[in-house]
Amino acid sequence: MAVTIVVSNRKGGTGKTTVSVNVAAELAALGLRVLLIDLDSQGHCAVGLGIKVSKGTPTVHDIFRRTDARLATAVQPTAFDNLALAPADPLFEHGEGLRDEGLLKRALAEEEIVTNFDVVILDTPPSLDILLLNALTAANWVVVPFVPHPLSSEGVKQLMRVLFKIISGTNQQLKLAGFLPMMGNDHIRIHRTVTGDVANQFGVSRLLPIIRNDIRLSESFAAGKPIRYYAPKSRAAEDFAQLGTFLAQLCR
Ligand SMILES: Nc1ncnc2c1ncn2[C@@H]1O[C@H](COP(=O)(O)OP(=O)(O)OP(=O)(O)O)[C@@H](O)[C@H]1O
Ligand SMILES: [Mg+2]
Repeated sequence: MAVTIVVSNRKGGTGKTTVSVNVAAELAALGLRVLLIDLDSQGHCAVGLGIKVSKGTPTVHDIFRRTDARLATAVQPTAFDNLALAPADPLFEHGEGLRDEGLLKRALAEEEIVTNFDVVILDTPPSLDILLLNALTAANWVVVPFVPHPLSSEGVKQLMRVLFKIISGTNQQLKLAGFLPMMGNDHIRIHRTVTGDVANQFGVSRLLPIIRNDIRLSESFAAGKPIRYYAPKSRAAEDFAQLGTFLAQLCR
């Protein structure tokens, strides 16, 4: 079975999709065969990889609507070596879907997925719904991107409550890879304070290497390319390469 990493935070706009797309690209560049799954019906992973999802294209959301749907049908190649995408359905509505937390875990056990992929990255919506519960039930590791801002600790705390519930219920294998400071700037006092609070609360070893603030990440997204291809000399490319090397150790 592929090692599965879920990228999650109950708060919106913390960089989940940016992390999902770029970590997927880093792990693929390191030679791992990566499947990126977009569980968020905003469908931004496809945008970040320069893929247009037309009406009628099979999507990962099909498995949450019909028990006979297969995840492998929704997998499509990307322009980047070793990296495939199972896109989201923009018409899938929040709250829709079969009430079964084990659908995604069972889909990841499909033979084509097990044979063709070493790593699965799950981008998730900020809402607490059946899709997030499926993602947490299917994953081995969780990465929690957060913006070092006073309001961010609430999203982190809410997610931790959900994690504890999952770990003591449907997925005892789930482990916290760590908290990832996004758009951070060590020169800004509040960023230092909030990051320090997270380290104090959960342990400094739970803090992943920071992704600094870099406008080139938004540009790369609009250009439909991961940062390592769009701006290989940027500081964000440097930061994601470091994060990719760290996370690759969890996938071996
Ligand atoms: N390190 C960074 N530096 C600058 N901008 C960033 C950085 N990380 C993310 N962004 C920008 O922040 C915005 C939000 O990022 P992103 O879409 O990845 O968040 P999200 O958590 O997936 O949002 P949502 O909850 O809506 O799914 C985007 O415009 C993205 O380009
Ligand atoms: Mg997103």
